[in-house]
Amino acid sequence: MAEARPRCGEVVGWGMSVPERVLSNDDLAAMVDTSDQWIRSRTGISTRRVAGAGETTATLATQAARNALEVADADPRDVDLILVATSTPDHPMPSTACLVQNALGAIHAGAVDLNAGCSGFVYGLVMGHQAIASGEHDLVLVIGADTMSRVVDWGDRSTCVLFGDGAGAVLLRPSHGDGGVLGTILGADGAGAELLRIPAGGSALPASGETVAKRQHFLGMDGRQVYRFATRVLPESIRQVAAKSGLALDEIDWVIPHQANMRIIETAAKRCKMPTERFYLNLERFGNTSAASVPIALCEALEQGCIQDGDNVLLVGFGAGLTWAAAALRWAPEAEEHRGAWLHRWLRNLLYSWARARTRLRHLYNTTFVRLIRWTQRSE
Ligand code: ACO
Repeated sequence: MAEARPRCGEVVGWGMSVPERVLSNDDLAAMVDTSDQWIRSRTGISTRRVAGAGETTATLATQAARNALEVADADPRDVDLILVATSTPDHPMPSTACLVQNALGAIHAGAVDLNAGCSGFVYGLVMGHQAIASGEHDLVLVIGADTMSRVVDWGDRSTCVLFGDGAGAVLLRPSHGDGGVLGTILGADGAGAELLRIPAGGSALPASGETVAKRQHFLGMDGRQVYRFATRVLPESIRQVAAKSGLALDEIDWVIPHQANMRIIETAAKRCKMPTERFYLNLERFGNTSAASVPIALCEALEQGCIQDGDNVLLVGFGAGLTWAAAALRWAPEAEEHRGAWLHRWLRNLLYSWARARTRLRHLYNTTFVRLIRWTQRSE
């Protein structure tokens, strides 16, 4: 008798959200001493999206999550766990995941942020899959979201040209067929912590007038060292996760790499002896969206019909920490009949409106209550 396949997570919904505002290389050339030609030739990036007023990591993450729930036709109240990978949370506390949980009306879900820089989404996917494999959870929402525009120094040409804002999300469920996670790897090397970091605003260097004056709340990077790290770890991760998943490199149909730099991806493809055409690329339009880059690329690859049933897809990230993570998936979602999808959509929208109204009412209640207390204290 054939051995039963161990329980594993499978992507059943996906979504993305990027800000409207497009910032081109020429726009950047008007701000700092750079040029379209330099940025394109060194990175492969032409444009990136930048969050506007009212847009935050949580609002982008919420919209990406709603799109993923829509694709799966799932009820937010059935979600067990929400993992938000980000290094640009709305606040140091509470977590962005809790803001997303509230905005979705996902009243039965646990929610937590995780920070693994640009590897964060793949870390989250691995952990979401493990939560399902353990039998503890059935429906896990994994989101990668960052608003790097809020932490880059717009006067530093060596970093501000690289990054963009956005969010991507997937919904994981236990696989009942051939699809799902085949193998994963996680890695970290904290010895490289200083190569990519925001020095101030944490417990080591709390916010002060001095830290702001020294521009220590902005991201700093040793580009050359990060480049060296990335060109080593990306091909190594691809090889390792393929081997762990029982796949030869020529059995991988698509690699969805972290979209940091075209040259890093081309070097990795060459070192793995794989054609660059099998690496899905969209960094030209979005730049490096940090934890959002892998799920946004996955989402676009699916929406453009690049990924077909039965394909082996490899997701791989690397970034601040230093960290790296990879997961191999077989793409074989079971065809589900979404009966009454319009009714479910209507109910989801009702739930989102209710969640919004509840938050406003709670805010109103809290502020009115505080004013009332102050007023009674004054009149005593
Ligand atoms: N426009 C014009 N000139 C520039 C710019 C710019 N935007 N930025 C730097 N330069 C200059 C430098 O000042 C330097 O001039 P100099 O020779 O007179 O000193 C020259 O260009 C070359 O600089 P390098 O840093 O050597 O340029 P390099 O070819 O290494 O490219 C880059 C820089 C694109 C940043 C590259 O090092 C890189 O991609 N590194 C990896 C970055 C990365 O992927 N980071 C994200 C990691 S993921 C995460 O967790 C966020």
